[in-house]
Amino acid sequence: MRIKTTQRTFSPLALDRKIDEKLQGTAYMGTDTRKDTDKLAFIETYGCQMNFSDTEIVASILREMGYSFTSNEKEADIIFLNTCSIRENAELKIWNRLKSFKRAKRNNPGLLIGVLGCMAERLRKKLLEREKLVDMVVGPDAYRTLPALVAEAESGQKAVNVLLSREETYADISPIRLNTNGISAFVSIMRGCNNMCSFCVVPYTRGRERSRDYNSIVAECQELVEMGYKEVTLLGQNVDSYKFEDCSFANLLEKVALVSPELRIRFSTSHPKDITDEVLYTMAKYENICNYIHLPVQSGNSRILELMRRGYTREWYKAKIERIREIIPGCAISTDIITGFCSETEEEHKDTVSLMEWVRYEHAFMFAYSERPGTPASKKLKDDVPEKEKKARLSEIIAMQMQIAKEKNQLDIGQTFKVLIEGNSKRSDKDFCGRNGQNKMVVFPKIEGCKAGDYVNVIIHSASSATLKGEIVQP
Ligand code: 5AD
Ligand code: SF4
Repeated sequence: MRIKTTQRTFSPLALDRKIDEKLQGTAYMGTDTRKDTDKLAFIETYGCQMNFSDTEIVASILREMGYSFTSNEKEADIIFLNTCSIRENAELKIWNRLKSFKRAKRNNPGLLIGVLGCMAERLRKKLLEREKLVDMVVGPDAYRTLPALVAEAESGQKAVNVLLSREETYADISPIRLNTNGISAFVSIMRGCNNMCSFCVVPYTRGRERSRDYNSIVAECQELVEMGYKEVTLLGQNVDSYKFEDCSFANLLEKVALVSPELRIRFSTSHPKDITDEVLYTMAKYENICNYIHLPVQSGNSRILELMRRGYTREWYKAKIERIREIIPGCAISTDIITGFCSETEEEHKDTVSLMEWVRYEHAFMFAYSERPGTPASKKLKDDVPEKEKKARLSEIIAMQMQIAKEKNQLDIGQTFKVLIEGNSKRSDKDFCGRNGQNKMVVFPKIEGCKAGDYVNVIIHSASSATLKGEIVQP
């Protein structure tokens, strides 16, 4: 399978944030089983890891329908954009992308264009009316109906299914792994979210939370091991509320850890109000569960946290961090932060700054607040922090976080880490790159006999805010 990796050079856990601020989504091409008679699909994915995982489900359904894949939109018979609504920017970018297909559609009236994912759910009417370009609008729980929808679109009608489901987990559909290096894969463990954080559109676009049968999750991980994969990232909007029959997230982690000691396990996203000691003890117990937790705080001020409906205070969050450090010494922690949420004062923003200084995150994904129509915040609160102020606060924390990350990374100099080799480094094919358990990118010279997918021990000689550099320690 040929894989286009241009946008896959950063952490899988970082995909959502990086990509949706970029100008383009990620396209996929698979030429392994392509026959001349196959129709060609072009899929471009925007947004969170869950969307990337969903694209793999969609690809599987399209393959069953007889499609092959191309990364050249010009030769496609059908184009899908798997979309994101999390911030206004993400949506604007997709509107622009849709416009760019205008000419292709004019030249080839048979070309079908479909919008998948969160925007489909939120903007189905607008999508069909504006530009008159879109033939199919398919929400995140409706991918099984793609064969009927495509047939409808082929007959010249607009095809729409944005019904949300309380049960759909696509548990029985075997994803076609896209854009992967054959080493690291996403495994979706649940869908939707019941949290209703006041700023967030996800509960409206992805619906109610439901957990996938653990048997199918474990079977998928076993299959991945048999295919040679070395790392899985278990995905859910709030993995700590995973529950299938009597299996909790901690139980699930254990089951997956036992699949193979050679398989590294990561997961995202954890919620500060729901992550349990049991999860932390399970992480501490199994060497192959990475010591890394993505624990979005959103704000360091308790009044803002309440307005955000996050379900915890600054003090509660700090206590969680202490608990993590107690049970898993050396655990890396990253976070998400929103600046300029409704009515946030400069002083309250300073609480976020001081919390960041206190935690000293390995990494942070930082955003200016973007009001999303239909969310509780948009209905009940005023988006009253001026854009300029939001951006100034954002710049302040970004600069501070870069400095913290650099200082933290420099503490790693002289230490040796187990690194999973992902492939050539971006800068030189004489170097490999890979991640350590803390999810830090490590670059080091190649040596004879080592290849992508191998675990190696690397001693660190230097560090920047984003990368550690070192060399392999020979056994
Ligand atoms: N504005 C800005 N950032 C947002 N996020 C979610 N909704 C919004 C919004 N309306 C951020 C949160 C979340 C991450 C995935 O995106 O920090 O954790
Ligand atoms: Fe959105 Fe909150 Fe659910 Fe995360 S936990 S998806 S921020 S509602």
